[in-house]
Amino acid sequence: MVRRKLITPLVLLLGLAAGTALAQPLPETGADLHEGVASCATSVCHGKVSADPDANVWLNEYRVWLRQDYHSRAYRTLQTAQSKAIATKLGLPSAQGAKICLDCHADNVAPEARGRRFQISDGVGCEACHGGSGQWLESHAEVGTSHADNLARGMYPTEQPLARARLCLSCHLGTRDKFATHEIMGAGHPRLAFELETFTVNQPAHYEVDADYRERKPAIEPVNMWLAGLAVTGLHTLELLQDEWFTRPSLVPELSFFQCHACHHPMDDLRWTGESDRLPPGTVRLNDASLVVLLAVLETLSAEEVGGLRQALDNLHQASQQSREAVVAAAQALHGRLAPLVEQLSSARYGAEQQRLLRRELLAQSAAGRFRHFTAAEQSFLAVETLSLALEDAERLKVQLDALYQSVEDENRFVPQQFAVRARQLMGAL
Ligand code: HEC
Ligand code: HEC
Ligand code: HEC
Ligand code: HEC
Repeated sequence: MVRRKLITPLVLLLGLAAGTALAQPLPETGADLHEGVASCATSVCHGKVSADPDANVWLNEYRVWLRQDYHSRAYRTLQTAQSKAIATKLGLPSAQGAKICLDCHADNVAPEARGRRFQISDGVGCEACHGGSGQWLESHAEVGTSHADNLARGMYPTEQPLARARLCLSCHLGTRDKFATHEIMGAGHPRLAFELETFTVNQPAHYEVDADYRERKPAIEPVNMWLAGLAVTGLHTLELLQDEWFTRPSLVPELSFFQCHACHHPMDDLRWTGESDRLPPGTVRLNDASLVVLLAVLETLSAEEVGGLRQALDNLHQASQQSREAVVAAAQALHGRLAPLVEQLSSARYGAEQQRLLRRELLAQSAAGRFRHFTAAEQSFLAVETLSLALEDAERLKVQLDALYQSVEDENRFVPQQFAVRARQLMGAL
């Protein structure tokens, strides 16, 4: 395998120093007033019927959100039969009245942070992503206001990949304040899965990265969006492992940190192969999907760092056989090694050659059975697809890509060996 140094030249986004993106408070914790979707939605603001060709933004964002974006129905979801059943099983009087549900299905800021037009029933509204508009609602529409002015007044930097990843993951994975526990899953909540580039594409766009956008904000390549999401998911998971959700005492630890399919698969489908890790048979493994894919990426890009990272991940798995304290220490150690790499990894420029190399390596590891847990195979597939789209040969590889997709399409019928075979077939077609 060809190994390369971590890429040059470095393009630091908007000249922001490393760490800034991660330091920005999330919209839900910022101090600014959330004025409500109604204050964005009038026809002179973001509520036009169709995109305005003369403005630098579409101005019909509200309509796109309302009609096409799942976030606008997130609160209504809490009123469905499925949510009612979840709430009943959890002993909650109602889902739409429960903080634990509202925290992810709405812009559930503290009462004192709610403006006059704020309505909880708006679901995941504009300010749940763009930040409380208390200080910028008026000014951001004035001529001559720059994006930097908006950020200084508390607008959330959704255009920065690392900050965006933190934002999306706050609901699509959880935080120390809100989390979809195994108890919630057991009551019928869907498993949470996330990949930043795929979810960015899947969220109906209410903006366009065109010439004037690029003057105001950086245009992020899909490969960078993917890597930012992957890296932040890894860090975020390691942070959650150090929090109450994992450390609180109980006989059985919080199960949503583990591979769901380690437990949830039929008994006639024996999967233990004994390869690629040193944990004893029958071990319930921590879910390390984003971390193993991230390590595959780092292995392709730079030889030096990775030995230590592999060891640190191995330590985490070993620690999971010992105690919560050992897991916290190992998660902290791995986090400490990964955190300094994230800014560079997500903002470096990757040429076509490097993207091809990354895809080949992911497929090689997939074919070798390195991603034999469903969640890792899922991340690997999404990455290979993103890279193929970026390399513009997804059409040519359609048959093999579709076949690989079919092997991860239904998590309940995932067969690791099949995934490996199809990865090899795709590799052969490159
Ligand atoms: C405040 C919480 C919250 C934030 C922040 C958030 N989401 Fe979501 N997202 C949700 C919820 C809840 C749903 C499910 C809504 C429903 O179906 O009722 C969802 C659904 C989605 C879906 C549709 C999923 C599907 O099954 O097709 C996509 C895509 C998505 N989000 C992308 C994103 C992206 C990208 C970001 C970051 C820019 C983001 N989300 C930020 C809460 C959030
Ligand atoms: C940590 C954040 C989080 C919490 C807490 C949470 N949810 Fe969700 N929920 C999500 C996200 C994100 C999705 C979308 C998943 C996807 O499609 O990828 C979702 C999806 C759902 C769905 C499926 C929607 C559909 O159309 O398929 C239901 C129902 C649901 N949630 C109900 C609830 C209820 C009831 C609670 C409270 C007990 C709750 N959720 C708590 C984040 C959360
Ligand atoms: C789930 C998160 C999410 C929600 C909800 C959301 N946005 Fe966005 N929005 C984004 C992301 C991500 C971008 C693209 C990155 C950027 O330009 O900041 C964006 C971009 C924009 C832009 C384009 C800015 C430009 O410079 O061209 C506008 C305007 C905007 N959003 C307005 C809205 C309005 C109005 C609402 C509510 C009706 C809304 N957004 C709801 C995440 C969200
Ligand atoms: C250590 C084993 C283990 C892990 C890991 C695990 N679960 Fe479970 N799960 C269980 C057990 C045990 C039950 C209870 C089954 C019963 O009541 O019959 C359960 C129940 C459930 C149920 C309700 C099933 C039913 O039959 O009604 C869902 C849904 C669920 N788990 C989802 C998940 C998800 C999603 C994950 C990963 C995030 C996960 N589980 C991880 C062991 C596990």
